[in-house]
Amino acid sequence: MISPDIVERSLYLRGQIEYHNHRYYVLDAPEITDAEYDVLFRELAALEEAYPEIDDPNSPTKRVGGKPAEGFVPYEHALRMYSLDNAMNLEDWFVFTDRVSKGIGRNDVEYWADPKMDGLALEVIYEKGRFVRAATRGDGRIGEDVTHNMRTVMNLPLTLHGPVVPDLLEVRGEVVMSNADFASLNQRQAEDGDKVFANPRNAAAGSIRQLDPKVAASRPLRFMGYGIGQVEWATPLFSWTTQNDIMNGLKELGFAIPPEARLCKTKQEVAEYFKELMEGRSDLPFEIDGVVAKVNSLEMQRGLGFTSRAPRWALALKFPAHQVKTVLNSIRIQVGRTGVLTPVAELEPVQLAGVVVSNATLHNKGYIEERDFRIGDTVLIQRAGDVIPQVLSVDMDKRPESASPYDFPSQCPVCHSEAREDGEAVRCTNDTCPAKIVQRIIHFVSKAGLDMGGVGKKWVQRLAEDGVLVSPADLFTLKKTDLLKYERMGDKSADKFIAAVTKAKKEAVLWRLIAGLGIRHVGEQTARTLATNFENFEAIGKVTREELQELEDVGPIVAESLHDFFRLDETKLLIEKFTEAEFCPTGGRSDFDESDLPLAGKVFIFTGSLPDMTRSEAQVLVEEQGGSSVKSISKNVDYVVAGEKAGSKIAKAEKLGLEIIDFEAFLELIQRRT
Ligand code: IVH
Repeated sequence: MISPDIVERSLYLRGQIEYHNHRYYVLDAPEITDAEYDVLFRELAALEEAYPEIDDPNSPTKRVGGKPAEGFVPYEHALRMYSLDNAMNLEDWFVFTDRVSKGIGRNDVEYWADPKMDGLALEVIYEKGRFVRAATRGDGRIGEDVTHNMRTVMNLPLTLHGPVVPDLLEVRGEVVMSNADFASLNQRQAEDGDKVFANPRNAAAGSIRQLDPKVAASRPLRFMGYGIGQVEWATPLFSWTTQNDIMNGLKELGFAIPPEARLCKTKQEVAEYFKELMEGRSDLPFEIDGVVAKVNSLEMQRGLGFTSRAPRWALALKFPAHQVKTVLNSIRIQVGRTGVLTPVAELEPVQLAGVVVSNATLHNKGYIEERDFRIGDTVLIQRAGDVIPQVLSVDMDKRPESASPYDFPSQCPVCHSEAREDGEAVRCTNDTCPAKIVQRIIHFVSKAGLDMGGVGKKWVQRLAEDGVLVSPADLFTLKKTDLLKYERMGDKSADKFIAAVTKAKKEAVLWRLIAGLGIRHVGEQTARTLATNFENFEAIGKVTREELQELEDVGPIVAESLHDFFRLDETKLLIEKFTEAEFCPTGGRSDFDESDLPLAGKVFIFTGSLPDMTRSEAQVLVEEQGGSSVKSISKNVDYVVAGEKAGSKIAKAEKLGLEIIDFEAFLELIQRRT
């Protein structure tokens, strides 16, 4: 018999982890550090492994994706998932509102308005507050069961919490990917020679329509709820009577809802909201293609009913597309960190969605061939999200007679070595290609790697071109005098550069080093797994492919890639240089429990100048004792450290009732605890 303590502990841990997932993925306001989260997660995973009886399909440990499904199973929606009618302009909107007013016999109609999210429509079902099923919209009546994939979507609650949890709840919404996540996913796909996606919607849909949930788990997907199907309450007197109630209710139960959603008192307010959102659409983190306005009262909604296709109480007001035509002047080839040759269109500069666009991605060789882009063509370009513009198609009527098909290079434009096709990608075959070296070091210092804030991309490029940096390890032996040889490098910048390297060297944890080396097929998740299973970096190279494959997230392709990486002469040299520089990060997470540190969980903010120490030194002191520091003030801050000439933050801190301490008190706090 399993002890009740174990059951209780596992329930407690699941609750905690889901709580922190919600803070992080839905509210964007984490309360604990990654390391603290990992401690909880690992304890739960260990318990579940030791006691299979406590297994639960809704345990947060299942979010990594289980076994692949054998095939797609159709799912019949209890209530049909309707489509929406579209308005192409505000005139259409007012025709619609007239019809609504006539239908219910009154003019004072309130509307709920939210952005039309551009993703994949889906229904997620909860019984007694537990996630039981997810299905795509399909044709509105029958969709596909995608429960296995939706469980991996980190912002989807697996258990509902709140004052009143319905017995049955069907939530409708959209699976989306943010523009930033989409851009990095595509970059990764290109680097790995995998398929690139045309837009965030395709990326989201392509990730959900998969049999293997590991795919969805590796993609940064989000679910945004915008409505409901069936709902049943155990509490007889409780119900939702407006769309506004539904949205507040969904939020309270733990769902993310579309940003900027709002109650509009009149039809004019909806028109204003539409204009506002259209202007601000490129500032939103997600791709939206319009506004959806819904009659707020559910009773009125029932009175209006549905046509054969769409509700009579809701309308999509579509934005005009962010597209424009311009001339393709030339095609430049960029060489990435894994040697992939990426074609970039150099365009006749043109205004698009408020910015001048002169470059756009052409993805890869296949993309150019399929659409037959030729230099001199007039092409249609689009901003998918606000990130990288794309070239969509050719205007054949405007093709110059002289235009000939584009000849994709079979040589690396930088080192002139042979470039070979590999899946969708064409890759430079030279492992010591200068372009690859530069990009690798840039990746190493970037946020995806060791995050050396003070080390600029341009300088890395310069130093690598001059042969000062040949591998990431050379950063650690770089001296200030090496930098000062450059006329444009001032004393301050050189200090900042060296300080950033020193700080990163001191604080680096193993997973960041692994992720920072940009080994093919090894992303952050795999890097974290490796870091928890190996003593140090070198140790990973000492095991066989088979042993690597025993780890979670490591399949044959990843194992092969790691194996190859450690057999390269450059890697051997890299390890030697790391050792020489005494750079040997360890797990930093598995060895001790950070929550035992004296300042664990405490959040600091510094304002004004501190006597005797720089702000980053103060931050390091805090971090060493388990605390963290932030840049912007909020009620999550525990201590506001006020230096000289402290600015407006103090007023804000006072307003929020935060504890404000001076530098003396800060030192005392730190010393008292050491
Ligand atoms: S409400 C009864 N709200 O647009 C119809 N739909 O073109 C309820 N969509 O299939 C739909 N964002 O997937 C609604 N904020 C939003 C939406 C939204 C995107 C999608 C939805 C629907 C499609 C119709």
